[in-house]
Formats: sequence, C-alpha cells, structure tokens
Amino acid sequence: MTDLASVDYFSDPEISQDPYAYWDYLREQGPVFREPHYGVVAVTGYQEVMAAFKDHDSFSAVNAIGGPFPPLPFEPEGDDISEQIEAHRHLFPIHEHMVVMDPPAHERARSLLNKLLTPRRLKENEEYMWQLVDSQLDHIMDPSGADGKCEFLSEYAKPFATSAIIDLLGVPDEDRPEFLAALGAEQPGGTRVGALDGEPVGLDPLQYLDDKFAGYLAERRREPREDVLSGMATAVYPDGSTPELLEVVKPATFLFAAGQETVTKLLSAAVQGLGDRPDYQQLLRENPDRIPTFIEESLRMHSPTKIDFRLVRKSTTLGGVHLKAGTIVMLCLGAANRDPRKFEDPHEFRPDRKNVREHIAFGRGIHTCAGAPLARVEGQITVRRMLERMSDIRIDEEFHGPAGDRRYAYDPTFLLRGLTELHIEFTPAATR
Ligand code: HEM
Repeated sequence: MTDLASVDYFSDPEISQDPYAYWDYLREQGPVFREPHYGVVAVTGYQEVMAAFKDHDSFSAVNAIGGPFPPLPFEPEGDDISEQIEAHRHLFPIHEHMVVMDPPAHERARSLLNKLLTPRRLKENEEYMWQLVDSQLDHIMDPSGADGKCEFLSEYAKPFATSAIIDLLGVPDEDRPEFLAALGAEQPGGTRVGALDGEPVGLDPLQYLDDKFAGYLAERRREPREDVLSGMATAVYPDGSTPELLEVVKPATFLFAAGQETVTKLLSAAVQGLGDRPDYQQLLRENPDRIPTFIEESLRMHSPTKIDFRLVRKSTTLGGVHLKAGTIVMLCLGAANRDPRKFEDPHEFRPDRKNVREHIAFGRGIHTCAGAPLARVEGQITVRRMLERMSDIRIDEEFHGPAGDRRYAYDPTFLLRGLTELHIEFTPAATR
C-alpha cells in the first residue's frame, strides 16, 4: 500500500497508473496544497482550478507543459515577476507555441488559428471524418463478415486522430501517406513510407512538420490557390499586419502535438467503456442521441490531459492559500473533474450525468482547447459508427483478463492519462 503522504507524483510509477486515490488524498489536505518534493502547489478542487485558469493576470502559462522541469531559469524576486518571465521566456520549453504564451502575444497567435478553425472548415472536416471512420473500420474488420479483433490504439485511434488533423490543415492528398508515416501513425498493413529524401522519417516529427508547412505556406504566399493552406498563408493579424512565415507555421504544426495523443486517449477510453459495459452499448445503440453525453462523461472520468501548469506571476491567493510570485502551480484537471463538491459520486461513470458538460478536460479561460469541437466530433463519430457496424464489442480477455479482474496499463507519464494498448474483439453487425 502506497504511503500517499510521501508520494513523488512526478516519478511514482504506481501513481501514474492510478492517480485518483492520491488526488483525493491531496484534496483532503486542502484543494490548494503544496506537495513535498518539488514545492509544487497542487490544485485539486474544481472551483480553484477554474479560478486559476481564468486569472491569467496572476497566473502565467509560460511553464504550462513542463511545470517544475526544467527548473525556473531565474530566481524569482518580489511580488511581480512579469519582467523576469519576459526576459527569460526564450529559455522555457516550446516557448514558440501559443499554449505557453501570455497576452498580448497569445492573442495574436490564437487569432491566426481562429482563421483556420472556422465553422465552415470544421464542417468540411466533419464530413471527411465520416468517410475516414468507415475506411479505418474497413481496415480492422474482416470483409467476409467474420468476428474480428484488433489493438484499437495503433490500428484505429492513432491513425484516425492524425488523419483528422492532416485533413483539417488541408495537406495535399499525395502527401498524406508520408505525413502518417512521419508521425508514426501509418496504417498497419498499409503502404509504409520508409524514408524521406533518403533520410529515415519520424526522428524528429515536429521538425519535419515545421519544414513541410514552411514549404507549403511559402509556396502559397508566392502563388495563392483555392485551398486551406492558402487561407493560412495569407492570414493577417487583427491589426492588418502580415505575420512572419514561422508565426503561421507554429500554430499549424502545434495542432499535431495537441490533438494526436489526447484524442487517441479519449477514443480508447470511450471504447474501453463500451467494451466493459455491454449495457452501455445497448443503451447507445437504442439512443444514439445520448452518445455526446457519453463522450463528455468519458472526458470527465478519464481526462486525457491529467494536469496542466501555471507560474504565479503576481503574488496572489487561491482557495485561501497565499501564493508568492514564482510559485509553480499544478492544476490537476483529472482531480477537479472528480471533485465531489462539483460532481456527485465522482468516481462513478454515469452516462446520463446532468452537469457533465461542466467538466474542465479542455481547460478554461484564454487557453481553452482550440480543438475541443474537433475532438468531440471524433469521439462521437467513432462511437456511433462502431456501434452501427459492430453488434458486440468485447474486451479481449487474453490481454486484459476477465470482467471484474481486468488488467489495463496506462502511459507512465505525469502529464497525460491514457491506455498504452486496448485489445478488443467484435462481432460485425448483420447489415450496415
Ligand atoms: C480529447 C482531446 C483533447 C484534450 C483533452 C485537450 C486538452 C487541452 C487542454 C487542457 C488545453 C489547455 C492547456 C492550457 O490551458 O494550458 C488545450 C489547449 C489546446 N488544444 Fe487541446 N485537447 C484535445 C484535443 C485537441 C485537438 C484535436 C486539437 C487541434 C486539432 C487541440 C488543440 C489545442 C490547442 C491549439 C491548444 C492551445 C490553445 C491556446 O493556448 O490558446 N486540442 N487542449
């Protein structure tokens, strides 16, 4: 039995497999509580996480991804470290991406992304996804109609999530297989692209993406076409000025970092839920209009972004606790989404939970997830088509053990929450 008081959240392998008892323990000490190892202040209360997200004046996002790693590149001085943050911003991990920017730079970067994520583009992307879901399912289902099995993450969720972003960004059709390979999401059994320009692919996917998008966008700035990439290439800031090429490339490539792993984790959590509960399959087959709520409850229960960080920029108070400027704050989304003061019987999955849409799996405030509509649709379409095309979805006992005694392994990270593998078996529906 783990001694919760001495847990090092950032390195404990058991806690990475099941953080929920630890978070409950922390919340019992107080919804805002300093953990002993790194002096990081853990926020596990719903209301308190929400308050920190909304107060971007007191809480900087500069360390949103890394938290205490690496340690701050300066010694905080006084009650307002805004100037110190700006002087050292370039030393923080992924400082060129919007998720760690603060106003006004953040607003400018996000305005470019908003030009891409228009309702029209999202609608077109959704139409593409309906075709994508079927072609992905065709890959895992036997054409003869026999029962089938698959490892859901590698054979469905990952290529699906990656393809959805590739399409959103309007990557030309002929380049799509190369993207899938470079991002490690090629279809098993599909064409494997082994090398790009003679170099092995996938060594540094983000560099690969930056180079590809810089190429596309530069070309379209010279000769705009009628396509999504041209829209991005010619986008201007709200004040009418033209961004540097790299300032457009970064929001585009960041979508892969933000939307691949997270969506893979959401889809696998939802399908795990279906496989474990045949009664939910029945419920949702008979009432497909309940699928959106089922996806929201999956997000609440299995929040793929477990935690998020902030750096106290100006000394402030949160949940009655004084936080000095320079304090690293860990916003525990997975804990806030199971705060009993907000959600009744929070550890119970309820497919009809009334206030489920109030979960904060997508964050809140100015950095709230830009891809949330996309992620939701990906979950809804996947569940809907799987239930239509499969009359019975089962967890493969050979890999995960029998019902009541399942063995599931989760990614051993402190940042994200999701299965490493999900083996399922299924019976195809009689008619499509
Ligand atoms: C279930 C899937 C997803 C989850 C749980 C998720 C979660 C989050 C969270 C919690 C944040 C806020 C980070 C912060 O405040 O520090 C965020 C930001 C962001 N997400 Fe997502 N995300 C998901 C899918 C996606 C997808 C599919 C995309 C795009 C294709 C995307 C793009 C972004 C971007 C661009 C930001 C930064 C927004 C900003 O800084 O203004 N996300 N996401």
